[in-house]
Order: sequence, then C-alpha cells, then structure tokens
Amino acid sequence: MLRLLLLWLWGPLGALAQGAPAGTMQAEDVVDLEFSTERPLQLVSPSFLSITIDASLATNPRFLTFLGSPRLRALARGLSPAYLRFGGTKTDFLIFDPKKEPTLEERSYWQSQVNHDCAITWDICRSEPVSADVMRKLQMEWPFQELLLLREQYQKKFKNSTYSRSSVDMLHSFAKCSGLDLIFGLNALLRTPDLRWNSSNAQLLLNYCSSKGYNISWELGNEPNSFWKKAHIFLDGMQLGEDFVALHKLLQKSAFKNAKLYGPDIGQPRGKSLKLLRSFLKAGGDVINSVTWHHYYLDGRIATKEDFLSPDVLDTFILSVRKILKVTKEMSPGKKVWLGETSSAYGGGAPLLSNTFAAGFMWLDKLGLSAQLGIDVVMRQVFFGAGNYHLVDETFQPLPDYWLSLLFKKLVGPKVLMARVKGPDRSKLRVYLHCTNIYHPKYQEGDLTLYVLNLHNVTKHLKLPYQLFHKPVDKYLLRPFGPDGLLSQSVQLNGQTLKMVDDQTLPALTEKPLRPGSSLGMPAFSYGFFVIRNAKIAACV
Ligand SMILES: *[C@@H]1O[C@H](CO)[C@@H](O)[C@H](O)[C@H]1NC(C)=O
Ligand SMILES: *[C@@H]1O[C@H](CO)[C@@H](O)[C@H](O)[C@H]1NC(C)=O
Ligand SMILES: *[C@@H]1O[C@H](CO)[C@@H](O)[C@H](O)[C@H]1NC(C)=O
Repeated sequence: MLRLLLLWLWGPLGALAQGAPAGTMQAEDVVDLEFSTERPLQLVSPSFLSITIDASLATNPRFLTFLGSPRLRALARGLSPAYLRFGGTKTDFLIFDPKKEPTLEERSYWQSQVNHDCAITWDICRSEPVSADVMRKLQMEWPFQELLLLREQYQKKFKNSTYSRSSVDMLHSFAKCSGLDLIFGLNALLRTPDLRWNSSNAQLLLNYCSSKGYNISWELGNEPNSFWKKAHIFLDGMQLGEDFVALHKLLQKSAFKNAKLYGPDIGQPRGKSLKLLRSFLKAGGDVINSVTWHHYYLDGRIATKEDFLSPDVLDTFILSVRKILKVTKEMSPGKKVWLGETSSAYGGGAPLLSNTFAAGFMWLDKLGLSAQLGIDVVMRQVFFGAGNYHLVDETFQPLPDYWLSLLFKKLVGPKVLMARVKGPDRSKLRVYLHCTNIYHPKYQEGDLTLYVLNLHNVTKHLKLPYQLFHKPVDKYLLRPFGPDGLLSQSVQLNGQTLKMVDDQTLPALTEKPLRPGSSLGMPAFSYGFFVIRNAKIAACV
C-alpha cells in the first residue's frame, strides 16, 4: 500500500526516469540524498586527477618514441592541469648516460625538427610527428616488449639499462606539449660502499636538464620497502630520509633551487612500509613537499569481475588511507599526502578487467574517497604503457577510464563537500559531492557536481534534497557499449559512443538536461555525474 502511494505521488512529479517502464519502480529503488554544503570539507589540488608513465617504458628507450604521437598528446592535453609522474620499479634500474646516442626511432623524431631549427618561431610542440612507418613498426614490436617487461616483473629480476639525453628530451617535450608538470623519479639504488646514496648519476642528469632549462620536480626511489626483494639491498627509512636531504642540497646548488621534491613512494601501507614511512619522515620529512604512497586493491593475476564490483573491496581503501594519514599527522603534521601511483590491480592490472568499463567503479570511487579523506593528488597508473591498467591502449585508443577521467577533470572542482544516501544500505550506491569546476564554460560559481556509482543490479532513482529539488540538472551518464557488457572497452555518454573526432580533437562531452524536479536515474552497474546548476551554494563561490 505504501509502495502504491509512493508510486502515485512520484508519477506526476516526473520521478520516473526515461526508459524505466512506468509501474516497475519499487519504492526501495527511490532514495533520498542528503547534502552538507555549509563549508568545504577539503580543498584538493587543481591537479587532483593526475597520471603516470611507468619508467618501464624507458627499459628500451626506442619505445619512448610513442610519446611523439600527436594523438597521444591530444589525449594527455585533455587531462591538463595534471602532474605526469615518470616512475615505477624501473626507476631504480635506470641510469642516465649523457654520451649515449639516440636510438634510430628517437632520431627520426628529432630529425623532423632539425629543419625548423633556425626558424625563430619554431615551436617544439607543433613539430612534425614521428613518421607513420616508424610508429607502426614500434607498435608491432610492442607486444614482445610487454611480455619481456611482464616476465621481469613476475620474476623480480631487474636489469639495469641506460637512457640518453634524447630520452629525457622526449619525456620532457611530451609533458610540456601536453600541459603536464613532469615529476621524474631518480634511481635510489645507486649506492656507495657504505650504503649512502651515490648522487653522481643524478648530478649528470640535473646538469643536463638545467642546461636545457627544463622545469621538473623530483622523486628518489620507488617502493623502497621492497628494495630487498628487488635488489637485495636493505634500506631503512632513516637512511632514505638522509638521502633525500642530500638530494635537496644538490637541488639547492643547481638551477632547481625551487624545484619540488616528493617521496618516499612506499607501497601498500603494511607494517614494514609504515615503519619505513615513520623513520623516513623523521629524517627527511622537512625536505619533501608531499608524502607519496601507492595503492592497488588487488593482485591482477587473480582478481575477478566480482572483486571489481564489490563494495567491500572498494571500502578497503579507506583503511589504507587512514593508516597513511595517521603516520603523516604524527610525524609531519600539515604535510600534504599524495597517491603517487595507484590503480585497480598490481602486476600490470587484471587482464580483460582493468581496461574495461568495470574498472571505472574502482577508479571513480578511489577519486571520490581520496578527495573526501583529504588526499591532495591521485596519480593514475598508467596513462600509456605496458599492462592492462592504461587509460590509452597501444593503438592510441582511449579506454573507458580515459573518458571517465576526462569527464571528472571537466566537471569536478577542487572544493569537496559531502553527500549521503539516506537509509541503512549505502555501500552499493556511492555518492560524492564537489563544487563544480568553475573553468567549465557552461557552469558557474555556486554550482554543484554530484557523482554516483550504482553497484546494485537494479536502477536507482536519487532524489535531490528539498532545497535543490527544482534546480536544473545536467546528467552525464556513462554506460558500457557493445556485447561485452561491463567488460566492454567502449563507453557511451548519455547514449553516445565516445571516440576521438580526429587525431587532434576530442569529442564534445554533451550533457542531457533533466526536467526540473526529475529524480536522478542510475541504471544497474553504471556511474555518472550530475551538475546541479544555479545551485548558488555559498561554499562554492
Ligand atoms: C659513485 O658512482 C660513480 C659512477 O659509478 C663512481 O665513479 C663513484 O666512484 C661512486 N662514488 C662513491 C663514493 O661510491
Ligand atoms: C615550474 O613548474 C611549476 C609547476 O609544477 C610552476 O609552478 C613553476 O612556476 C614553474 N617554474 C618555472 C620557472 O617555470
Ligand atoms: C540482484 O541482486 C540480489 C541481491 O542483491 C539478488 O537476490 C537478485 O537475484 C539479483 N537479481 C538479478 C536479476 O540478478
């Protein structure tokens, strides 16, 4: 009876979502939202959503030539402002060799620019792209390189390799031309006989970068808590902290006086890594600008689709964040905390999952929780490169998580508010609220962006709080496209399949305006954004 009454009340208000046959909506599928908008809960970085390129891409520097792709650069530009972290396990196995000649492929890239060298208006970002032949050849060889990298990772046997000035140029021009701020991870496993950091190779790199006027921020080492496993070198947090202090001194003496330094890039916050973080911060906390740590929900080799859709798995992230925040607050109060490397599953991601629509639940929920808990920056492993967790695949096709990131970047601003689902069961319907990104041309200060994940197997209808009920709302709903369902690599925004217009042009991300007073319909296993316009929220002005 109550259900009938509700349906009757709802019908005339236009609460039924388009597409849901009238009369099938259950009362329990209508949920009320509660907002706290008095003041921002957190203020995160304008580069909150940031990206990485794994250092493994430089294992054979020929493959860095991929970064000359105009299409890849156009996709990266869509995510600006953002940091681009170049790091990962290989960070500690790469050695700069200033005398090394560029590879054939790298040379083909720079050659195309030599002709322009004398022109005053020469612009590195508008130079000729890598020839299609070179790119095709690299793409054909890439699967073999990926296998090699994967094997190295599973066997935990890493070989040193060298990179040239040209490799640094390629990385820097990719970042610069895409509007990204480059963070470069220095090799921390170069050690003196008494186990202090040997900075001589870093000095060569700093010299080169300052001679070119490059603006770069720095890290030193990657997941030092597992140096023993990777290289049979044991390093405690105290020593690493002292090494950071040494690097800081080096930067002070160079053109990088004002350059930022981030670390220690520890892995999952377990006993050993937390202990390392604690002693690191004691010795080196003063010289870093943000504390960095890494997070993955799962082991990519055994992760299942059920894991990817499990609220319990998503909730494990909260505990990890709290552990890191606790140690930071204790040892370096006030220091910003960054997720320096993060994705769904480690070991390159889960095949046929981390590169599909299903991965978006983990990605969007991680962004939401991070912002809410006060993580300042979240760097997604990886923008492009080996494995399955990339945003853009080896043929330069953007995957669902790319489009999700792009929408997030365009719609979500750095001021974080709070939304709640009323009622007892919140775990499968997850909601996050921010002020809208004021740089979006269509929206204005005071607008709200709500983002929602529906992990229920039925459509849910969300009701805005009373004060906002009659505001105009723009919907941006993402759903998988094609026969693979949730495991699709293709995604639709409001029913339109997202793809690039051409190699330089991203598609318009077109909203669907809802009738004022409509409920916000979220189909089973979908996620999306709602911009509440003209909301006039004082905290967002
Ligand atoms: C540091 O490394 C360089 C290059 O390998 C080497 O020449 C130098 O002797 C090392 N310094 C120390 C103190 O180990
Ligand atoms: C270097 O980049 C940072 C952003 O990471 C920026 O704030 C700073 O102004 C830049 N410095 C120079 C000298 O361009
Ligand atoms: C939906 O999920 C519920 C449990 O939450 C389950 O009992 C029901 O069978 C599922 N329905 C479908 C159509 O999968």
